[in-house]
Amino acid sequence: MTYIADTANILDGLGRGTARGRMPGRTGSRLSHLSEWYIRDEDDVDEDDRDDGNDGDDGQTGSGINGVGAAGGASAAPGLSRTPTRRVAPYSDLAATYDRALGIRSFVRTKRAFELVVRRYGVCFGAAADVGCGTGLFACYLARCWGARVFAVDRSPHMLRVGACRCRDPRVQFLRQDLRGLQLPQAVDLVTANFDTVNHLLTASDLALAFQRIAANLRPGGHFVFDVITRAQAAMRPVVQVHRLPARGRALFQRIGWDPRRGLLSIVILHRWPRPSPPSVELHVERAYSPAQVGRLLLDSGFVIRGVHDAVSLRVPEGCPPRLLVVARKPGRPDR
Ligand SMILES: C[S@@+](CC[C@H](N)C(=O)[O-])C[C@H]1O[C@@H](n2cnc3c(N)ncnc32)[C@H](O)[C@@H]1O
Repeated sequence: MTYIADTANILDGLGRGTARGRMPGRTGSRLSHLSEWYIRDEDDVDEDDRDDGNDGDDGQTGSGINGVGAAGGASAAPGLSRTPTRRVAPYSDLAATYDRALGIRSFVRTKRAFELVVRRYGVCFGAAADVGCGTGLFACYLARCWGARVFAVDRSPHMLRVGACRCRDPRVQFLRQDLRGLQLPQAVDLVTANFDTVNHLLTASDLALAFQRIAANLRPGGHFVFDVITRAQAAMRPVVQVHRLPARGRALFQRIGWDPRRGLLSIVILHRWPRPSPPSVELHVERAYSPAQVGRLLLDSGFVIRGVHDAVSLRVPEGCPPRLLVVARKPGRPDR
């Protein structure tokens, strides 16, 4: 099996002369733009859209959701008149409809990429963890299609609750943990972090901490496979985009702002509920990282980087794509 020896250079090279030239020139929206959402007075949620509901409402702090390129449907300005909104924790109101809005689409892409990685890099695993597992679709897939024992880790109790209801496979154990303090019940052969999970860590030191904890929970020879959005967000023109997402029981809008100067994506999710419930708003923030930064932090955490792909085409990228798929390995011989 060939290892890419000078991996820092590979990731470094990707960052050079690519992102900067393509980024939008304007500074994007500020994170304080929640007040910019105004809701129409008419109740436009269809009766047959009403949810059977699985929303949690206990508080959770944190941030983030991927939005780039994920949203389907028509663009819609969310309203005309000024109705106050209720601020809720990230992934709280979203959890019950996450799969329909974003999760299934993400799962299909992730599964395709993962199967390529397994074939190409000969990844073997009996025990795995999917961190930032959300509603557990991928964790469940690892158990059902690969026969693995899987730890599905997330910090959102709402997402975990939905996951635990939908995936009742005894091989999958849901754990509420923060990536930065990851402590699995046993070491695993594979850790995955899909759909921008690592971008939810907003500082390089948090990302470093997460990488260290992932390395600590991997067996020697174990793999870490993840995607990460980079600062090459050419697709983010115009600076602010609004999408309507598919959802049940509400009208759901996603507004994405990209601040190229700070490398931050701010994603506002607006839930417009049937009356009399007031609309609710979640703010998610993600940081885009350069390939060089990611490479350095992985190497500092003791990983070897085996490969880097454009997460969409799955080819080895020539420039810096908006989203990278990274295959890293903890050095050492597997004990099996
Ligand atoms: C965009 S969602 C991705 C969910 C899932 N991986 C998928 O592919 O659909 C990001 C997930 O990461 C979780 N998350 C964000 N920061 C986290 C952290 N520091 N520790 C654990 N989970 C985190 C969120 O709660 C959310 O469920």
